[in-house]
Amino acid sequence: MDSKSYQDHFFKKAKIEGYKSRSAYKLIELNEKFHFLKNGIKLLDVGSFPGGWCQVARKKIKKGMILGIDIKKIDSIEGVKFIEADFLEHNTKKIVLDYFKSNIDVILSDMAPNTTGNKSLDCIRTNELCLDILDFSKKTLNKNGTLVSKLFMGEDFEKIKTKAKQYFKKIDFFKPSSSRGESRETYIHCSRLCNNI
Ligand SMILES: C[S@@+](CC[C@H](N)C(=O)[O-])C[C@H]1O[C@@H](n2cnc3c(N)ncnc32)[C@H](O)[C@@H]1O
Repeated sequence: MDSKSYQDHFFKKAKIEGYKSRSAYKLIELNEKFHFLKNGIKLLDVGSFPGGWCQVARKKIKKGMILGIDIKKIDSIEGVKFIEADFLEHNTKKIVLDYFKSNIDVILSDMAPNTTGNKSLDCIRTNELCLDILDFSKKTLNKNGTLVSKLFMGEDFEKIKTKAKQYFKKIDFFKPSSSRGESRETYIHCSRLCNNI
């Protein structure tokens, strides 16, 4: 299958299976590899529009808390709370902390800015979001919590890797097969916060 047919395949599959986006399959693959979606957990999904990842999370988390955040308005999903806000703003982070009231078990970020067509700039802007979520996770995750974040291979990749290694005992990179082959997108999975931070 060529890359285009492959994407069409996931697009059609999402329509048939009732997912709001084909991105849903990326989270399914990530969870099949790392097993972080568990019933009863507190989960934050940042950059969640149109809601595919929240749908996948909700299937696994019947009891627990799921909070989705995006700049864009998201149609409701039963069992998921949404906030329409810019995650980079300090006040949004405060709202998140007030909502969960204690540490979070899993933080997901599929955040991506609107593409400009300038590959280098798009890479820098996406990776800035990844660096931001790494800092937020360090402060708010449970010691045994998990962070999964999108990033782009390119500028700032080494910076992300260094920071992640500073904060977490275990880090892995994984590109789901449902992520376009030609895209520089990949995901970092971080677990077990270091004690000394
Ligand atoms: C690839 S989409 C996410 C798809 C989603 N995971 C799903 O399964 O449907 C990336 C999203 O990140 C959001 N985003 C980008 N920057 C953001 C920010 N600073 N705060 C909140 N959301 C942001 C965009 O609005 C966009 O909807």
